[in-house]
Amino acid sequence: MEKILNINVDHVATLRQARLGKHPDPIEACKIIKKTKAHGIVMHLREDRRHIQDNDLYRYKSTINLPLNLEMAPTDEMVLIANKVKPKMVTLVPEKRLELTTEGGLDLKKNIKKIHKIVNNLNSKIQIMIFIDSNIEQIALANTLGIHGIEINTGKYTDSHGNQKDIELKKIKESAKFAQSLNLYLAAGHGLDLKNITKIVSIKEIKEFNIGHSIIGEAIFSGLYESVNKIYAKINK
Ligand code: PXP
Repeated sequence: MEKILNINVDHVATLRQARLGKHPDPIEACKIIKKTKAHGIVMHLREDRRHIQDNDLYRYKSTINLPLNLEMAPTDEMVLIANKVKPKMVTLVPEKRLELTTEGGLDLKKNIKKIHKIVNNLNSKIQIMIFIDSNIEQIALANTLGIHGIEINTGKYTDSHGNQKDIELKKIKESAKFAQSLNLYLAAGHGLDLKNITKIVSIKEIKEFNIGHSIIGEAIFSGLYESVNKIYAKINK
């Protein structure tokens, strides 16, 4: 079966926010992605609005006809926004203000009451996913929430080396089997790139991949030659 690929465009917005201007516009990036075989778009509206802005979500809804997965912290503010935007899916992620990127999965052992409330307050038409570390106990707790599925955090695998990498891969495999046995829809994401994705792709239970940084980073290199030459041609007419 075809695996689902969703592209996270946060870092197009990161570049735009570096100048607080309009360019490069993540919505323009979505228009290009729409012409590819990718299935959907991921945007993370962070509480500090460091990349995606509220208005990006509304512009997305009115112009881009691709499923949107809205990543958000489990807060009342984000629930209000999600219920207005009505993405196909939300993924609940933990958020720390000083982190460079999402550092790990949601700790359901600590936050189960709070997450339960957030899940209940989200519009029932929105599919709910929870970003979670590859831990059987956490996955069993996620299953008590009546959600659509989980996204396994691959960041620990992609960041580790040697023996530890094998250990992390084994944990992801076991988690994938367990999640499937509970009938939870299974996605994976964080830190994935063209090289490190190979072993993750071979885990058949994982149906969906959410990838951002490596794709946007690579896109700079594949587009740089053309954009330099375009300016050169302009100044040497
Ligand atoms: N999945 C989740 C839950 C994330 O928080 C992120 C990063 O925003 C991604 C996937 C994509 O990770 P990366 O940008 O490293 O591909």
